[in-house]
Amino acid sequence: MVLVPEVAAAVEAVGANTPILAAGGIVTGRQMAAAMAMGAHGAWTGSVWLTTAEAETNPVVKEKMLAASSRDTVRSKSRTGKPSRQLRSPWTDAWEAEGAPKPLPMPLQSLVSEPALRKVDKLSEGGHEGARTLATYWVGQGVGLMNEAMGAGQVVQQFKEDWIAACERLNGFIGD
Ligand SMILES: Cc1cc2nc3c(=O)[nH]c(=O)nc-3n(C[C@H](O)[C@H](O)[C@H](O)COP(=O)(O)O)c2cc1C
Repeated sequence: MVLVPEVAAAVEAVGANTPILAAGGIVTGRQMAAAMAMGAHGAWTGSVWLTTAEAETNPVVKEKMLAASSRDTVRSKSRTGKPSRQLRSPWTDAWEAEGAPKPLPMPLQSLVSEPALRKVDKLSEGGHEGARTLATYWVGQGVGLMNEAMGAGQVVQQFKEDWIAACERLNGFIGD
């Protein structure tokens, strides 16, 4: 709500013809319409694809994402050494716990976390209960709106339908 209009104003101020893409938490067509109403030309999306049939996301994590609310993510240094938003799990909690070691600076923390988390993924897919609980992955707060397992094509179709519905809704406010 703040950044996109600021960027649009800055681009306009210099008279540039630069396309602006809004990103972060956008998982629906209505959010794209809102971003475009604020001056963006389109949206850049990441998380919304993680639960699609085509995504290589660990199926256990996919399930967790579909069930998660927007409150189930956390910005944590535990994965890369820099803050990045991910699904909260006992893995991320353990790194925040009292007495826990501080995550190493990037790129060293990945050397600690990635082999362990890859093992967690593998074991969780085999049904290991502890690993299922620990399993986590990067995802944004839009995860709360990702509630249905869909193919990528269906996601695109929903984007279009929801975008049009949002534009029609706005048109309705104009009146005759
Ligand atoms: C699994 C995953 C990995 C990502 N990896 C990177 C990365 O390596 N570098 C980067 O700049 N952004 C990365 N991003 C951020 C995306 O490019 C994008 O800006 C962001 O996901 C948009 O927000 P959204 O996920 O809420 O749609 C990643 C996002 C996800 C979901």
